[in-house]
Order: sequence, then C-alpha cells, then structure tokens
Amino acid sequence: MTDPFSPFRLAGLSLRNRIIKTATFEGMSPGGGVSDALTEHHRALAAGGVAMTTVAYCAVTPDGRTFRDQLHMRPEVVPALRTLTAAVHGAGAAASVQLGHCGAFCNNHDLARRRPMGPSRALNLIGALSGRVLADAMSETEIEDVTAAFVGAAQLAREAGFDVVELHLGHGYLLSQFLSPGTNARRDAFGGSLANRARFPLMVVERVRAALPPEMPVLAKVNLRDGFRGGLEIDESVEVARELEARGADALVLSGGFVSRNPFYLFRGERPLRQMIAVEKSWPQKLALAVFGPALIHAYPFAPLYFLPLAREIRRAVRMPLVLLGGIKSRDDLDTAMREGFELVAMGRALIHDAALIAKLAAGTARGSGCVPCNACVAEMDREGGVCCPKVPAQLADREAYVRRARLARTSVTEQSSLR
Ligand SMILES: Cc1cc2nc3c(=O)[nH]c(=O)nc-3n(C[C@H](O)[C@H](O)[C@H](O)COP(=O)(O)O)c2cc1C
Repeated sequence: MTDPFSPFRLAGLSLRNRIIKTATFEGMSPGGGVSDALTEHHRALAAGGVAMTTVAYCAVTPDGRTFRDQLHMRPEVVPALRTLTAAVHGAGAAASVQLGHCGAFCNNHDLARRRPMGPSRALNLIGALSGRVLADAMSETEIEDVTAAFVGAAQLAREAGFDVVELHLGHGYLLSQFLSPGTNARRDAFGGSLANRARFPLMVVERVRAALPPEMPVLAKVNLRDGFRGGLEIDESVEVARELEARGADALVLSGGFVSRNPFYLFRGERPLRQMIAVEKSWPQKLALAVFGPALIHAYPFAPLYFLPLAREIRRAVRMPLVLLGGIKSRDDLDTAMREGFELVAMGRALIHDAALIAKLAAGTARGSGCVPCNACVAEMDREGGVCCPKVPAQLADREAYVRRARLARTSVTEQSSLR
C-alpha cells in the first residue's frame, strides 16, 4: 500500500507527501486584500506538515466575490501574495490558490452591476435581503469575459508565486451553476444537454491550462453530486471527470454540495445555527436565519470519508490523479484513501482544529484529529479576525490579539492622517 507520507509528483511539482490543506474560506481578507493573518494562517499549515496549502476562494473579478471582504485577484495584491507564498515555501510546502466566481450566489454590497449574473434568470436568495433578489442570465460576451478573467487571474497567481491553481467547478458557484441541471435553464449552446452545460466550465479549464506552463498543475474542484433533487448526479459527474481529464486538468478534488440549496451536504455533522445567527451582522438576515434556517438548512450525519462511495465511481472512470476529500481526519482514513487508489487526500476542518496534525500523524504522536465536527468554524469564518476552531482556547486568544493589533494600527493611521 502507498504510504500517505511518501512524496508525489503532480505535473512538474514535487509534493513532500500526499496531504493537501483544502480551501476553507479564511475570512482574513478585509477589503478584499491579503492580511498578515492570512499569511500566518498558511505558513502555520505549511509548518504543520501538509504537502500543499490552498488559499481559499479568490474571485477572478471584483463581482465574482460572494461577499465584499473576499480576496479578488488583481495586480495590486500580487506583492502581498508573493510574501504569503514565500512564507509557505519557507516552511517546506507548496501553495495553491482556489480561483472562482460566485455567479448568481452573491451577497456583495459593492457589486458594480445592478444584479449578479449566472446561467439563467434566477432568485438570488442570499442577496434577497440586501436588495439583490434576482440574478441575470449571462450573455455569450459575458461568458467570454469571465473565461478571460479566469485566465488573467491564473497568470497573476503564477506571478505571485503559487505552484498550483485550483479552479472551483463545485459547491454551486458560477461554473457549478452552469453544470447543474437544477440551475441552468438556458436554451443556447451553454444549456440543455450535459455537453452544453459543461461547455463554459470546460472552456475555462482548457484556456487556463493552455495559458500556464505544463509543469504548473491545474486542479479542478468538482461536485460528485449537487445534493438536491434535480441537481447534478454522479452519472453526469463521471462524464464531466472524463472530459476534464481529456482537457488536461492535472487532478480533480472530489467534493459535493450546493451552498445556495443544501450547504451542509458539503460538510456533514452539526448545524451551527446558533453561532451563524450570532455572527451575522445584518438584522434582517439574522431574523431570516432564525425563522427559515431550521427548515432550509438540512443536517447530514457525519461519517469518516463520507464521499468515498461516490468518489469510487470517478476512480473507476479516469486514470488521472484524484484527491479524496470529506471527513478525513485520522491515520486510518489516510491509509484507506491510499488503499482505495486515490493519489492524494485533502483535509479541511481537521486542519482548522490543528494545523500541526500532519506532522503529529507522521511522527506517530497522534492517530487522529480532535475535530468533532461541530462546524462552529463555518460560523467563525465570518467573525472579525477570521476562521478558527473555537474549541481551542489558544486559537481564540491568538485571534483576539490579532484583532486588537489590527484595530490599533487602524486607529493610529486615522490619528496620523487627522494630524496632517
Ligand atoms: C470554514 C469552512 C470554509 C470553507 N470554505 C470553502 C471555500 O472557500 N471553498 C471551497 O471549495 N470549500 C470550502 N469549504 C469546504 C471544504 O473545502 C471541504 O470541502 C469540506 O470542509 C469537507 O472537508 P473536511 O471534512 O476535511 O472538512 C469550507 C469548509 C469550512 C469548514
């Protein structure tokens, strides 16, 4: 059996082991930039033993942000991202960035357009309470423009020192909205049959692949199932995986779920409704969560390796490297993933709980993570200072100290400018 701590070569990139920190939104990009906290977060994960860490959800255009305080790729952030990637490399790991566009799932108060855009005219439930109830259908020119934005963002990511780009084709963001029969009602070349629904996502992957040197891996994060009736199902995901392999994607990260329809299909475990209401800043949204949350947000029981049964179907269909994800938190889980023929694994919550878990598993000083999963981190990512595991007092203390320092820095800048 393959040792999960053995090196792996992905296109031209050498990974020191088989474990990737998957994208988990950090909430450390106030104003859409790169904070010191974001850099330290990824440095600590690298120092904790992962082969590669992934900077989460970086929008390819300002309007591709789900929320205002989300990173978006632009020349101005490249120097700060260079510092981040250098810190990750200095700790012995590779750096990846997840590039995405939110499409019709948008609660961005700084939107330049009047309405967000997606495959079809649709309700934008998340933005409804901030006055953006509807999303528009994209024109072919807009599809071309967003494709070009993915390419431009990937090129900037390379300039910023990232070793890998991960294209977000899952979780109900724009490219997933096109793939899903549940959200794509178009009647042109981008809707209807699977070949048509996949046209835009595949074009993005193909063009990004062609724009980067062959040795730089391009990953795609894809849905095995959308997790709601009428959504993408595994038989179609298998076809999408085959096409992605043919178009030159270097590996697939196998996930599932659709944030606007069934967010906890993605996570499994407890629903942290109370904490989500507590961190929500808008009162109408707090109220909506309290009233509709219990009925609309379904809970799914957690099981180790919960996507494995569906992921096996993709494993049978393609030869390319596959990244198993979902409920991986112990040495036994890593061994199972390797035994099942997955070249790599990705972990989220277990590494939010303990950034040094991989070094401990490798040294044999731990067998698994203490992550429950209570999913409180899903609420904490929206608190000032960003994501942490609130069950770990040291993480809460670090975040408090960081927030105090950041507020102090802001106050002294304001004082200095008022003295001028
Ligand atoms: C706090 C938090 C934030 C997340 N943000 C993202 C994100 O920005 N992009 C993404 O693709 N997935 C995101 N996810 C989903 C994870 O990448 C992953 O698919 C999920 O947590 C299951 O993996 P796990 O069981 O190892 O945690 C997030 C998960 C958590 C817990």
